[in-house]
Amino acid sequence: MEPRRERNVQVVVFAVFGLAASAEAVAIATGGVPGLRELAAGAMLFALVVASRLFPLHIGYKRKMLTDSGSLFAAALVLQPWLAGAVAAGGMGAAELVSQRTGARSLKQLVFNSSQRLLSVMAAATVFHALTAEPLTEPGVSLGMAATVAVGAMFVTNDLLLLGVIFAQVGRSILRDWLVDRSDIPYDLALYASGFVVALAASFHLWLLPLLVFPIAVFHRAMRTQVTLRTQTREAVEALADVVDMRDPYTFNHSHRVAEFVRGIGVHLGLSQDVVEEIAAAARVHDVGKIGVRDAVLLKAGPLTDEEYAEIKRHPDIGAKLTARFPDFARGTAYIRHHHERWDGRGYPQGLRGQQIPLGARIISVADTYDALTSSRVYRSALDEDVARAELARVAGTQLDPEVVTAFFAFKGWVPAGIGQTNASRATAPVSTTPV
Ligand SMILES: [Fe+2]
Repeated sequence: MEPRRERNVQVVVFAVFGLAASAEAVAIATGGVPGLRELAAGAMLFALVVASRLFPLHIGYKRKMLTDSGSLFAAALVLQPWLAGAVAAGGMGAAELVSQRTGARSLKQLVFNSSQRLLSVMAAATVFHALTAEPLTEPGVSLGMAATVAVGAMFVTNDLLLLGVIFAQVGRSILRDWLVDRSDIPYDLALYASGFVVALAASFHLWLLPLLVFPIAVFHRAMRTQVTLRTQTREAVEALADVVDMRDPYTFNHSHRVAEFVRGIGVHLGLSQDVVEEIAAAARVHDVGKIGVRDAVLLKAGPLTDEEYAEIKRHPDIGAKLTARFPDFARGTAYIRHHHERWDGRGYPQGLRGQQIPLGARIISVADTYDALTSSRVYRSALDEDVARAELARVAGTQLDPEVVTAFFAFKGWVPAGIGQTNASRATAPVSTTPV
């Protein structure tokens, strides 16, 4: 990550931690001493939070989902705010200690996550207890309403803080891409609902609280089956991409190489690991739509007719249609659809220009172009590295995003000379840089 963004992230993490510590201190000062019953409930919920965090679900490309929302929400309902906050942050810290997953790099992440959870749980607890006279001792008609408002408070606090740190990390240019991604909300809401029901039952009989483990376990199992299915489907699509690579002897292993270049560019652009991996996953299958292009066109040795070129140009849309079946891969699908757009707006399928083109698509485009230049094609043999480098520099700013080309040069350890400028001293005529 570039130093400025690294510093921004540190400022946000420090601010959120400061806010969490102050909120907890104020809540302790104004809160009461918990009775034995509340302490017992706190201990049970603490154990549930730790257990939930020890078994994260990997629901997508480097995306984790945790099933602790139900227990945390129950904590917000049955405990006073400071104790609910302590259960949230303490449970998270204890789970990390037990699993030993926290290295030096992710310590910052742990501090942020714990503070974020503490603040959102305290927000929910404060709102809920302000709206109900006593914590769940007098269930009335307003109970459901109070719980709903508490859920809202927890979501808003959580997401606002998350947005802050993502903004500091990636900047405005790709923040838009991240805003659409809350596909896990329905699952989260189901967990909140079970937290509410069990908290309600526990207000009559405290020993019912551990029953929360059952809906969480059922949820966990169902999700795991779904994740397995998704992984298998994704692997099938990747296998299809390999078939496309193999169909054309000139593109053997093409998508593997493009994915590797994408990783190099992503790191040099300072993108987070998650973002880089998502773009690399899209790079692996970026040409999968060629499955819908006839051999006679795809493997044609001579120049293409207008009709044949139009057929080739359908492959980004065909590929995007295929991957659109994965709801958690919406951004990847956009990268596939737009990997043949040009920086100057003269690409296809939609003629987007500049920043309108999703960043992932701009990155894949640079990697794809370089690999096309340095691989043998039916119509020409592979160019050597110097010629390919000069070509990339020449088309930066017209075909390709110059910032991404600069990052690719940095990844390759090349001097970023002449990017975006026409090289008048070129000995040879420009080669076709448009990958098909
Ligand atoms: Fe393509």
